[in-house]
Amino acid sequence: LLIRGRVLTFVNEPQGIDDTASYRYFEDGAVFVRGGKVVETGNYADVSKLAGAAVEVADHRPNLILPGLIDTHLHFPQTQAIASYGAQLLEWLNTYIFVEEQKFARPAHAAAVADRFMDELLSNGTTTAVAYCSVHPESVDAYFSAAEARGMRMIGGKVMMDRNAPDALRDTPQQGYDETKRLIEKWHGRGRAHYAISPRFAITSTPEQMEMSQALVAEHPECYVQTHLSENRDEIAFATSLYPDAKDYTDIYARYGLLNDRMLLGHCIYLSDREISVLAESGAVGVFCPTSNLFLGSGLFDRDRFDRLGARWSVATDVGGGTSFSMLETMDEAYKVLHLQGQRLTPFASFYRMTLGNARALGLHDHIGSLHAGADADIVVLDSGAKSAMEYRMRTATSLAEELFILQTMGDDRCVAEVYVAGKAMKARKAGAAEKRQL
Ligand code: GUN
Ligand code: FE
Repeated sequence: LLIRGRVLTFVNEPQGIDDTASYRYFEDGAVFVRGGKVVETGNYADVSKLAGAAVEVADHRPNLILPGLIDTHLHFPQTQAIASYGAQLLEWLNTYIFVEEQKFARPAHAAAVADRFMDELLSNGTTTAVAYCSVHPESVDAYFSAAEARGMRMIGGKVMMDRNAPDALRDTPQQGYDETKRLIEKWHGRGRAHYAISPRFAITSTPEQMEMSQALVAEHPECYVQTHLSENRDEIAFATSLYPDAKDYTDIYARYGLLNDRMLLGHCIYLSDREISVLAESGAVGVFCPTSNLFLGSGLFDRDRFDRLGARWSVATDVGGGTSFSMLETMDEAYKVLHLQGQRLTPFASFYRMTLGNARALGLHDHIGSLHAGADADIVVLDSGAKSAMEYRMRTATSLAEELFILQTMGDDRCVAEVYVAGKAMKARKAGAAEKRQL
């Protein structure tokens, strides 16, 4: 398959407003895909010669072709809890989220939501995501089964919680360990699945569960680890009161040996320089969740301090604290959150972050996040004129940077013209499935 259009793919993190060395852009470009992989990306004239005359062409001109977008933190059981009114983090969890997640004890419910969840990601151009499932192991089966049915590279894991949550959502340290172990054996490395060991956060895990998490991380260095850190002032006070010996919130996780370069820490808003330096040393990744941080009134992520102290960071939706599955809308809010602090986010830096930047945060940049030869053919096609106001605005746009900024500021799922997972067109597939059901 030859996917034709205006191709944009990054090779490095952009430095400054138009660092042309950080990306490759082909105005009449094409991606030659075979067996689910990218064979070659470049100018249409060159790539089509390599592909030969017999190859099928998907002509997306004048749309943009980018690597599939990547979301590094969200909650699959919160798909139907987006827009839960009025509360900050701890009250929001107790009032809405810990009620919603109990529904996932029913495997049929988990399976139905998992299907919808994957389709929402794809509609928004997201081809890889890192999600928390519920405490129920069946929710992980539902999650990875739905990903496998679509061929998606997905990361996820069963949340572990053994205190400060309703009975129906608590496991025990031993149960959390055993169930996680079984799920890793079942899913990690099967097709495109990756497992994430997922103690929810310090408030909902006892020291015994932290020790069990430490054992899991030590026994499974191939897996990711994910949790939440320093999102809200009441949360920080509660967490540190539960671990009085820890120097600070970050030290709770550090003491249990959880920090490594495969660890993702959601939010990281109120960290001291000491804490960010600890993250930097360990290679752990702070995850910036702008729509969630605004929606829950949590606070503003200080990217410049992460950069200055040499700590890694990524971006994510954090659905359902986050309000949208769209990485475009997420970067729009990221821009504003940074702007409020006098920090700039350039359009190229934004699009780098949703693709190669997030792929690097996951250590998956050989496979996803860019369209180099040998990469997985996970691709999104973006239409910068999908909404009438955008189309009108685009008439005055004079550069690629301006177009990207319009896409980010005004765009959403309506701008996703097509999405390919391992070389398969998923929008076409979905339309086909719907037709069949009608017959
Ligand atoms: N901290 C612990 N659990 C959660 C969650 O589900 N969402 C958010 N935003 N923060 C959390
Ligand atoms: Fe979260």
